[in-house]
Amino acid sequence: MTQSLATVSYLGATILFILCLGGLSNPETSRRGNLYGIVGMTIAVLATVFGPQVTAGGLPYIIGAMVVGAAIGLYAARIVKMTQMPELVALMHSLVGLAAMLVGYANFIDPAVSVGLTPAEKAIHEIEMYLGVLIGAVTFSGSVVAFGKLSGRITGKPVLLPGRHWLNLAGLLVVIWFGYRFVNAHGVSEAMLPMIVMSIVALAFGVHMVMAIGGADMPVVVSMLNSYSGWAAAATGFMLSNDLLIVVGALVGSSGAILSYIMCAAMNRNFISVIAGGFGTEGGTPAAAGGAQPAGEVNPIAAAETAELLRESKSVIIVPGYGMAVAQAQHTVCEITKTLRERGVSVRFGIHPVAGRMPGHMNVLLAEAKVPYDIVFEMDELNEDFPATDVAMVIGANDIVNPAAQEDPTSPIAGMPVLEVWKAKTSIVMKRSMASGYAGVDNPLFYKDNNRMLFGDAKKMLDEVLAALKA
Ligand code: TAP
Repeated sequence: MTQSLATVSYLGATILFILCLGGLSNPETSRRGNLYGIVGMTIAVLATVFGPQVTAGGLPYIIGAMVVGAAIGLYAARIVKMTQMPELVALMHSLVGLAAMLVGYANFIDPAVSVGLTPAEKAIHEIEMYLGVLIGAVTFSGSVVAFGKLSGRITGKPVLLPGRHWLNLAGLLVVIWFGYRFVNAHGVSEAMLPMIVMSIVALAFGVHMVMAIGGADMPVVVSMLNSYSGWAAAATGFMLSNDLLIVVGALVGSSGAILSYIMCAAMNRNFISVIAGGFGTEGGTPAAAGGAQPAGEVNPIAAAETAELLRESKSVIIVPGYGMAVAQAQHTVCEITKTLRERGVSVRFGIHPVAGRMPGHMNVLLAEAKVPYDIVFEMDELNEDFPATDVAMVIGANDIVNPAAQEDPTSPIAGMPVLEVWKAKTSIVMKRSMASGYAGVDNPLFYKDNNRMLFGDAKKMLDEVLAALKA
């Protein structure tokens, strides 16, 4: 493939990636957006593999590696459960970070790379390598720890070292000092020590940063690492002089940063303290291990009584959460919605920005069950409507409907915006037990006078409610 054909292909792929991002911003266009992304990535990979930078001798190795990688990717995508997606995404981010590190080291020890460069170009290239390895290392170790936390292999509690901000600052100064030595070193052997020291500090910083974060703050970390992985890819693009990688990295980096910002707003966290790491733990007490102990009396309700209440309502708001995803109850939820709407009951869905375990988790499930988009609302769009609502039905959600966020300034989730279901005439919480949610915080909603608890697996209980509704 000639250079100009490769350039045109890269341009086409870039446009497709932008269209992809645009499409993904709305559930109705997301399938098309995904398709644009797939076509764009196929063009990008083909243009790179068969492009002018790859020699014929290298092709068998690249194709062999691609077959192995694609087989692993296909297997992982097939076996992963929807609820494990954030873990898989974190693991994928770690690979982007690792790739940036390896490309940085390969560039660094390859003498051919800097042949013919002017001193200024050489300095710029060295800074690119140093920054590429730095961002890659932070992304790699941070994502591995995030994977461990999300999959329960590492404690979900924030692990706070004494003087952690000073440790981070010291790490930053070491990285800057060795960066200076790296750029001024004569030859690879003299530059090797600064590069290795920086890599170790960056890896330790990634671990330290994510270990310090816990409980309900993890979604912000995942989107932040998403952003870091984009910048790591852009850095790799600079090192390899690959324009497409620079553009795509910047797209991922900036969209990840915007998503982190939106997440921060949803969690009422400060963006700057997120970037500094170890955020969200100063105000309240860290979540207790294994969840807080429940306190107070609750009013249970049976499925038949729930169906009766729903049937007699004029307006119902359904708030789905992680438990709906675990129980795979979305199809029954859709059936119940259909039945109620046929009877003239107004049914709407209230979606919290961090419901479930990944951004858009609930929207994906509801779209899969074919719930009409026009009755699915963001939290801000219907939070004021709860006082005029007969029944607020909470399906496997907990933290996102916790009034302690507003009522208890010492709560670990104090200040987090929540869906105010307790303001409805009756709220019904569907879950299996009194266990706490992801943040490990007790939920005073359960003990409110107008709240009823429908205990059991969400799918099983909703099947019973549906049967009673249809009877
Ligand atoms: P959670 O607060 O985690 O509550 C989910 C509830 O579902 C649990 O209390 C659990 O109670 C119940 N449940 C589990 N399996 C169930 C089943 N089969 N049937 C019925 N109920 C079931 O979830 P949420 O309200 O959706 O809030 C999300 C939380 O996850 C937030 O703290 C958020 O910060 C965090 N988080 C979000 C993300 C993103 S990006 N969305 C990523 C990581 C973490 P029982 O065990 O008693 O059934």
